[in-house]
Amino acid sequence: MDVFVIEGGRQLAGSIRINGSKNAALPLMAASLLTDEPLVLSDVPNLSDIRNMTRLLGELGVDSDLATPDHGPDHSQSHGPDHGQTITHRVTDPTQSHARYEIVRTMRASISTLGPLLAKRGYARVSLPGGCAIGQRPVDLHLRGLEALGAIITLDGGDIEATAPGGAPDGSGGRLIGAPIFLGGPFGSTVLGTANILSAATLAKGTTTIESAACEPEIVDLANMLNAMGAKITGAGSPRITIVGVEALHGTTHRVMPDRIEAGTYMCASAITNSKLTLQNCPLDAMMSAIDTLGHMGIHIDATGSNDDPMRRTCTISTSGTIKPVQITTQPHPGFPTDLQAQFMALLCLSNGNSVITEKIFPERFLHVAELTRMGAQIHRQGATAVVTGVKELTGAPVMASDLRASAGLVIAALAAKGTTVINRVYHIDRGYEHLESKLAGVGASIRRADAEEFADSIAAL
Ligand code: EPU
Repeated sequence: MDVFVIEGGRQLAGSIRINGSKNAALPLMAASLLTDEPLVLSDVPNLSDIRNMTRLLGELGVDSDLATPDHGPDHSQSHGPDHGQTITHRVTDPTQSHARYEIVRTMRASISTLGPLLAKRGYARVSLPGGCAIGQRPVDLHLRGLEALGAIITLDGGDIEATAPGGAPDGSGGRLIGAPIFLGGPFGSTVLGTANILSAATLAKGTTTIESAACEPEIVDLANMLNAMGAKITGAGSPRITIVGVEALHGTTHRVMPDRIEAGTYMCASAITNSKLTLQNCPLDAMMSAIDTLGHMGIHIDATGSNDDPMRRTCTISTSGTIKPVQITTQPHPGFPTDLQAQFMALLCLSNGNSVITEKIFPERFLHVAELTRMGAQIHRQGATAVVTGVKELTGAPVMASDLRASAGLVIAALAAKGTTVINRVYHIDRGYEHLESKLAGVGASIRRADAEEFADSIAAL
């Protein structure tokens, strides 16, 4: 198992290119199940979740051809528009419709194969995802939506078994029927649930209206690609999406939108080290809430270069040297994203006052609090709210990564902390940040990946 060893306190300088988005790419890849023709995705990030989705699609009869551009070891440089992997997906065996627990348990986004399988093959068997470090994460809204489209759904041996009207386990037929669907739940809408229903409804007979749809930019990216494949979707990005079902979808070539959470993470890294980093391929248009919050903290994001594509801008991050306290409440898009909560909390640990962070999407998503406290942070959590009292400095310590974004928060704290931080279990980070250590090292951070054995004594104490 790997660890990151970070010596804090260095200022950063230079430029980082933002990857294609993991959370956009996963449902886009699953949409390859909807067509008999090749689907070509470019700027796909090279991450363990992407490799797991490729493996899962392989088991579902989809061949994936990978082309990785060779840009050398310096990942901090910008390499133009075609950077990132290009993957060509093509269905070769439509009879395999079982997403097994062995893969699903490694990646919850496997659930996004359910809608496409059911819509195209009339049948799907997808393991029910289990527990998760950030909360309970049920899929009841996904299932309710598919039932509204006429699917018969049962649970069998931990698997969701779903059959469209007229469908059978050999995938020989069946077709969903368009319907009005309300996707609102106790915490707002559901992102992957919206992706599932949206994808499924493209091939349904008749018209589907999703009310209380997720408005996340990754849903807009999916709808844009599905429309390029021949779907008839309007309203994506708003809470009401209308889909007029078509008989078949064709292949297309699509460039994955840049990762707004990776971009927000590097904005925090720049701010906490009082640096002036430049980010390229940055989806500023999808980041208004995070940018507004940074502004209140005294951190400025200035777009530079041409304004041609507001989702792929170059920007610089600058600070006044003082981080001001703020109140943050995580909300569905366009509100403040839960996936940046841990990183902003790390930044606020060094503010000059009291900040209040309320988590409204995953109320249990606070595993990073105890680890930040080990580094000298002052954080008091009560239920879904944490009060962060800024301290003068953080100190390096051995800490434990618990989930993807919590781990990113620890990296940010470590960049500013005095001394050495050893972050254990960095496989969590590898799920969502491509080449994090070489990108940060490329702009001057002292960070290296090492074998956990080297730090066995300090980690054993955790
Ligand atoms: N929910 C339900 N029932 C459902 C589905 C969701 O009650 O059927 C609840 C959840 O428990 C949660 C809320 O609704 O309280 C929102 O969950 P959502 O379904 O939107 O989450 P998701 O689609 O499973 C995606 C991202 C997450 C991100 C959330 C919220 C992907 C692959 N994952 O998950 O990303 O936190 O939306 O924005 O797109 C991450 O990247 O670190 C990550 C966890």
